[in-house]
Amino acid sequence: MSDIIQVDRLSKIYRSFKGAKEVKALDNISFTAAKGDFIGIMGPSGSGKTSLLNVLSGVDTATSGEVTIDGKSIAKLTKDDLALFRRRQIGYIFQDFNLLDSLTLKENIALPLILDHVPAQQIESRVDDMMSFFGIADLAGKYQYHVSGGQKQRVAAARALIPEPAVVFADEPTGNLDSKSASDIMDMLTQMNEQRASTILMVTHDAFAASYCKRIIFIKDGQINLQIQRAGDRKAFFDKILEILSVMRGDAQ
Ligand SMILES: Nc1ncnc2c1ncn2[C@@H]1O[C@H](COP(=O)(O)OP(=O)(O)OP(=O)(O)O)[C@@H](O)[C@H]1O
Ligand SMILES: [Mg+2]
Repeated sequence: MSDIIQVDRLSKIYRSFKGAKEVKALDNISFTAAKGDFIGIMGPSGSGKTSLLNVLSGVDTATSGEVTIDGKSIAKLTKDDLALFRRRQIGYIFQDFNLLDSLTLKENIALPLILDHVPAQQIESRVDDMMSFFGIADLAGKYQYHVSGGQKQRVAAARALIPEPAVVFADEPTGNLDSKSASDIMDMLTQMNEQRASTILMVTHDAFAASYCKRIIFIKDGQINLQIQRAGDRKAFFDKILEILSVMRGDAQ
């Protein structure tokens, strides 16, 4: 089966105004992901993780190189096609939730379907299913300022996943969560991955969250430094990730 994501020699250079120095955030990155893959992206602060997700998801453009998702080169899509593609094929879970204050939590989750003109009855049942899946059915009429960080994170995940996107990008989905909420989110992402064959790319600093992945890509200075594949159980993978992180921290000193 062909790969759902193909990343070919991707580079991203930020050029600031007024001639200040350039930042090469991504430097010639290539990798592929098969449908149903669950990839963790780890690396030090400033190594280019968010830049990578933003370019892969079409939030930002690459300086050079190509990203192909589900057979489509995203840089070649028109603005309208890109917007449609992102709405239907890509789910993005932002670290800072990005929920809208003026909508109830249920309306926040329904938003991608409303924008896509899905019939109202279908929206109602899909949103109810998704809220039960995430254990937040009782929060439907509340607003984001009424609920905890863990609950907001579940709402943000539900909203990203409701269009049943082929690919899910998650930037620190367990950042700032207590360990119970973090493991709940990871269990749910794992279920999406296993039951709906969603392909997931998740940035994380946290070895515990990363241990749920099938593969980890470590990046450093905008380049792929190392890739590892999960072979045995999650605990063994967790230990392996911790070991690599400690070696990498040692390297930096
Ligand atoms: N919009 C921007 N303009 C200029 N430079 C940027 C911009 N966004 C990121 N950078 C720079 O690009 C590099 C990579 O940033 P990026 O946000 O991708 O790192 P990161 O790995 O996600 O870091 P963190 O773990 O802290 O979130 C950094 O040097 C950063 O300062
Ligand atoms: Mg980041």
